[in-house]
Amino acid sequence: MSTPFDAVILGAAGYGGGELLRLLMAHPHLASLQALSRSHAGKPLYAAHPGLRGFLEQSFLGEMDWQSLAASPQPVVFSALAHGELANQLPKLEAQWKAAGIEQRLVLVDLSGDFRIQNTDTFEQAYGRKHPCPERLSEFVYGCPEVHGKTLRGARRIANPGCFATALNLALLPLAGLDITFVAASGATGSSGSGAHPQAGTHHPDRAQDFRAYKVLNHQHRAEVDELMATHGLPNLHLAFVPHSAPLVRGIFATVQVEGHTDLAPRFADFYRHAPFVRTVEDSPRVAAVLGSNMAELAVHSDGRSTAILVALDNLVKGMAGQAIQNLNLALGLDELAGLWNPGRLP
Ligand SMILES: NC(=O)c1ccc[n+]([C@@H]2O[C@H](COP(=O)([O-])OP(=O)(O)OC[C@H]3O[C@@H](n4cnc5c(N)ncnc54)[C@H](OP(=O)(O)O)[C@@H]3O)[C@@H](O)[C@H]2O)c1
Repeated sequence: MSTPFDAVILGAAGYGGGELLRLLMAHPHLASLQALSRSHAGKPLYAAHPGLRGFLEQSFLGEMDWQSLAASPQPVVFSALAHGELANQLPKLEAQWKAAGIEQRLVLVDLSGDFRIQNTDTFEQAYGRKHPCPERLSEFVYGCPEVHGKTLRGARRIANPGCFATALNLALLPLAGLDITFVAASGATGSSGSGAHPQAGTHHPDRAQDFRAYKVLNHQHRAEVDELMATHGLPNLHLAFVPHSAPLVRGIFATVQVEGHTDLAPRFADFYRHAPFVRTVEDSPRVAAVLGSNMAELAVHSDGRSTAILVALDNLVKGMAGQAIQNLNLALGLDELAGLWNPGRLP
């Protein structure tokens, strides 16, 4: 019999917070759910997430009384805060969790990029600032269920991968051990990838009929992919990644191309045989076929001289909140599918 968990979401008014609430409310092992928000404290959840009206009638909390979880057998915190915020707040939060006697058994899953990269120089290069609490980095496991499934069991601090990074990881991991030093990769993302706060790059009239590249060969997610692949069979990889902003709201489509290696399809099929949230398709993966679900679609094509690996996923689910719950399930020894076994919707 598994222990029900008490979940708290930090930064719950954002897109990640909304997806966590939508998915967690139907999780079979959930005991209680609290949503914290600085911007929406005291307001009902539906003020930020209209789709939750009638399902979750509670309001956002402005402050958390961590002592209220002192008797919880399994406290869980999801941080859906903007990048940099959890790293700033973590030392204080850890002290509060310690005072409440929950810091050892509490599972923290961070959706941001704050704890994904172990090397502090790499972090600084990728994010353009020094890490505020480097001493905490080694406490975190990088939550890639397709390779860390077993090591996640019992993990208490989990760094959830980035959305582009998830797509790239899935395309690259089965290549481990091959003599590959260069891959060309591109990825297109929808506007929800930039979060709920409007910015120039996400404003609808600017974006809805446009398609452009950004952060060319310089996207911060490359660093976490490099770090994962360095320990998973591609230590000398040069990943040349060009991200694009697509006229979509949700979704990521990534293309990874390698020279030669024209017989990779069976290798991918074998690698993902036991991965419940990666399915292989014959022609093209479709963003629309995975929207709202934790499933990633993948295809492998070859022309006899080169190979293209294609991946589609929902950036807010497999690229964020869904994968965070998948990681929690693995950490707690629950069924990996718990709360997540829903298909995408098309049309
Ligand atoms: N969007 C994606 O596709 C995606 C995918 C993977 C990972 N991520 C990462 O997941 C995290 C959440 O992303 P999101 O898309 O949900 O972002 P979001 O919609 O912008 O929400 C982030 C939340 O962080 C808080 N916040 C924002 N600016 C802040 C500031 N300056 N100081 C303190 N708190 C601030 C707010 O929380 P309150 O509710 O407290 O006001 C806000 O609701 C980010 O770190 C992001 O990089 C995003």
